[in-house]
Parts: sequence; structure tokens; C-alpha cells
Amino acid sequence: MKALILSGGMGTRLRPFTYSMPKQLVPVANKPILVHCLENVRAIGVEEVAVVVGDRADEVRAVVGDGSAFGLDVTYLQQEAPLGLAHCVSIAEEFLGDEDFVMYLGDNILAEGIAESARAFRDERSAARLLLTKVADPRAYGVAETDATGRVHALVEKPERPRSDLAVIGVYFFTAAVHDAVRAIEPSARGELEITDAIQYLVERGDRVVADEYTGYWKDTGSPDDLLDCNRVLLGRLHPGVHGEVDAASTVEGTVVVEAGAVVERSRLVGPLVVGAGSVVRGSELGPYTALGRDCVLEDAGIRDSIVLDGVSIQGVRGLSGSLIGRSAAVRTGEAAGRRLIIGDHTQAEVAA
Ligand code: DAU
Repeated sequence: MKALILSGGMGTRLRPFTYSMPKQLVPVANKPILVHCLENVRAIGVEEVAVVVGDRADEVRAVVGDGSAFGLDVTYLQQEAPLGLAHCVSIAEEFLGDEDFVMYLGDNILAEGIAESARAFRDERSAARLLLTKVADPRAYGVAETDATGRVHALVEKPERPRSDLAVIGVYFFTAAVHDAVRAIEPSARGELEITDAIQYLVERGDRVVADEYTGYWKDTGSPDDLLDCNRVLLGRLHPGVHGEVDAASTVEGTVVVEAGAVVERSRLVGPLVVGAGSVVRGSELGPYTALGRDCVLEDAGIRDSIVLDGVSIQGVRGLSGSLIGRSAAVRTGEAAGRRLIIGDHTQAEVAA
């Protein structure tokens, strides 16, 4: 089985971060979302992967490279514009050949991996196998109708009046039958070649399309709050380990990772928490649920429930929570009031001491 991972698209809901990086590279628990996807694909035994990239191809290449760091052989496929998920399949046709494949949207987090569905797909080789989950408001997703055996009878993309509460997760298993379907469909009203339309085509043609209900944690990481939620969940699953230096005047509670080269002095670390390589933390209180990137400097700072990207400095500011702080941003004491920060790369913010 091969994999097709989608890392193009716009990411407008994650501005300002997506002004300077594709949304799939925003880190959760100190790892780009896309890397979590690659790891899940590797975990089901896939080695050959094509990554679809758009305008931000260079940044994706800089992180993923040839894939060898993840045990993968990665090929890049350039998409000239975000013309739809099924369009991504069409540009991958040559790469995929006749092989079965898993298509994985590079902004989806599935914390428990995809092993069970992969096993079932390999056993059964239905034309398509989907993962579904119940959501409160299905209107933002593809929505499936299934029978008691898990066979899919209908599929609609972002319906105004959903006929079920089963949202389609962004991981799809396909045999080569999907290529006929992609060739047969037309662009939707929003101008995209929809993968839901391609799957609906297979259903109408009488091909077997089945679905599993995914019972693990899933998130389509569209907004800062989604990222923070994922961060909490994935930090909770880290293996603790202090690889950097933590002095005797500091305390460490719970699941804490201090990466190599990080220095912690006179501070309180409360897990789940990760302190990135090369970061310096002095006289500060960190965590729980905080991912601090690489090469950050925190002095007399307090932060919990947050994602802090690489190279950030926080000085003299406590009580930060629910924050996303972009690369190389500086946060220090000043006149301004307010504690919650969702700011972009290289932004300067001043908050009350
Ligand atoms: O997350 C699950 C949902 O993903 C499904 O329920 C929907 O049926 C499916 O259409 C999709 O909906 P989204 O609106 O979330 O898709 P989005 O446009 O955000 O694209 C998903 C990923 O694929 C994202 O990482 C960007 C990438 N992409 C998207 C398009 C349209 C591409 O690489 N190329 C594209 O042309």
C-alpha cells in the first residue's frame, strides 16, 4: 500500500501562522501536524508516500526532506492551485499506479493511529474504506449514511441539512477503482473536485464502500482552539524524560519532557509539558499542557495550556494561558492589558506584568 498525503491548500483560518508557514507545519506537542500524519502512515507499514504541496512546497520539503528521517520514501507532487481533494488523487495517478493507497489529509490528527482500519482494508479490499465519527454539527464535513453493517449508502459534502451525524474523517483507503471515479466527476459548486463526489460515484456504481466508526481522538485542525485541544491530548501521551539540564532549585511534576540542550533553572515544571531543545527557562512556571518550542528564552514567566513556537522570548509576564505564540515573537511587560495571545510570527506583544 502507498500513501498520498495532502499538504497544499490555503489555511486561512489559522492566520497569522499561515502567513509564514503552511498549516500542516504548525506544531502540536512540538511536532508539525504533518509529521504526526507521516508517523501514522509509517505505523501501518507504508513506505512509499507522495506529498501534495502547493505554494508552500519549499517549507514542507525543508521539514520532511526525502522522508528517510521518518522511515519513508517521499515524492512531492506540485498542485498548481487547491482544486480539490479528488484533484489531488488525479495528479497522483502515475505515482499510485494500480496500487491500493491511503489518502491522508495533512491537517487531520488521529491520536490513536489508523491501524485497525488499515488491517480491515487489507483483509477486505473494498473499493473505499472510510473512517467516520459522530459530531455535534456535521455541516462542516463530508457526511455519510451507512447501514448496520457499515456499508456506505450515501455521502454528501458539507450539507446544509445533514441526514446523519457521521462526519467523514480525513483518512480514506482506496483501491485503484477510485481513479475511474475521479475521472468521471465534475467540479462542485465551489469549483473543487470533491473526493466525496468520487466516493458517491463508486457507491452509485455498486462498488463496495464501507466505513468504520473511529472511536479514538480525532481533530481537523482548523482553528487555534482546535490546535490547543490537540496539544493537550498529544502532550498527555508523551513519554517523560529529562534530556537537558534541570537544576536542583527546580521542581518537575507529571509527564515532562525536557529535550537535549534545554536549560531549566529555579523553575516549576508541571506536566504534561515539553521544553524544546536549546530553550532556557529561568524563574518560571510552565504547564500543564504546554509545548515550548526550540531555542526559546523564558525568564520570570508563567504559561500554561499553550503552544509556543521556536525562538520565542517571554520575560516578566505570568498568567498566560490558551495562547499560541508564533516564531521569534517577544512577549514582555508593558502598558497593555490582557493575557491571551494568538499572534503571528515575529509579532511583538506587550502585556501587563
Ligand atoms: O477533515 C475532514 C474533512 O476534510 C472531510 O469531512 C470533508 O469531507 C473533506 O472535504 C475535507 O474538508 P475540509 O474543508 O476540511 O478540507 P480542506 O479544504 O481543509 O482540505 C483538507 C486538506 O487537504 C488540507 O490539509 C489542505 C489539503 N488540500 C486541500 C485541497 C482542497 C490540498 O492539498 N489540495 C486541495 O486542493
